[in-house]
Amino acid sequence: MRKYKNIVILTGAGISAESGLSTFRAENGLWNNHRVEDVATYEAFIRNPEYVHAFYNEMKPELYRAKPNSAHLALSRLQQEYDTAKVDIITQNIDTLHEKAGSRNIYHIHGVINQAVCLNCYRIMESWGDVDTQTICPHCQISGMMKPNIVFFGEDLLEMDKVDGILRRCDLFLSVGTSGVVFPAAAFVQTAKYYGAETVEFNLETTSNNFYFDHHIQGKAGTTLPAFVDELLQN
Ligand code: APR
Repeated sequence: MRKYKNIVILTGAGISAESGLSTFRAENGLWNNHRVEDVATYEAFIRNPEYVHAFYNEMKPELYRAKPNSAHLALSRLQQEYDTAKVDIITQNIDTLHEKAGSRNIYHIHGVINQAVCLNCYRIMESWGDVDTQTICPHCQISGMMKPNIVFFGEDLLEMDKVDGILRRCDLFLSVGTSGVVFPAAAFVQTAKYYGAETVEFNLETTSNNFYFDHHIQGKAGTTLPAFVDELLQN
């Protein structure tokens, strides 16, 4: 009889590091080369939409080419083979590497790079191509109202109506490759723990959130996560 019924995995930029994608707060991280205030706030978008569109457009080719690594593939295998549990992935990442790894039940709480939202009709447009202030909304045909479907600092997270419920129901919560410094995602482990989940952190180092984790598995997720999934599948 398998131990867990509802498994939730929260992923951050660290799970995509071994796919060659930058994290945010490392030495050469995204936030060391760009000011958050210039590219990741609603005020920045209103002040200079062309600059913000360009920041995300420039990211698209690399994210389009990126390949899932063994950590993403391990989660997809867990979803397929640990068939007595519901396995949900809550990702802070705007890349589509969980999808490319064959995962489902993916909640992009910070948005996703190949989507834009129309600020006139609020419908979503999917595009790996450039989106800018001239782009015409395919739904309402209004131009100049498209915004990257990325959650800027200060904006509400996406999918929270579903995420809150799965956090309360989970009996195993894994946090993979996140520094645990951006809220509300950084508090998800507290919710899971409060409702009785066993909590495990996978990171290169212990994070400021370490207190809330029952276990800390140090190392590269591309190595530690497949080993952990193997163990789960054997029990
Ligand atoms: N394996 C495991 N962990 C790793 C690896 C790896 N190979 N490489 C890096 N890490 C860890 C780092 O130690 C760090 O704790 O991944 C974490 C990445 O932290 P951040 O760069 O802060 O990224 P993240 O936690 O996803 O940021 C959260 O902040 O700016 C916002 O919206 C942005 O979604 C992002 C959010």
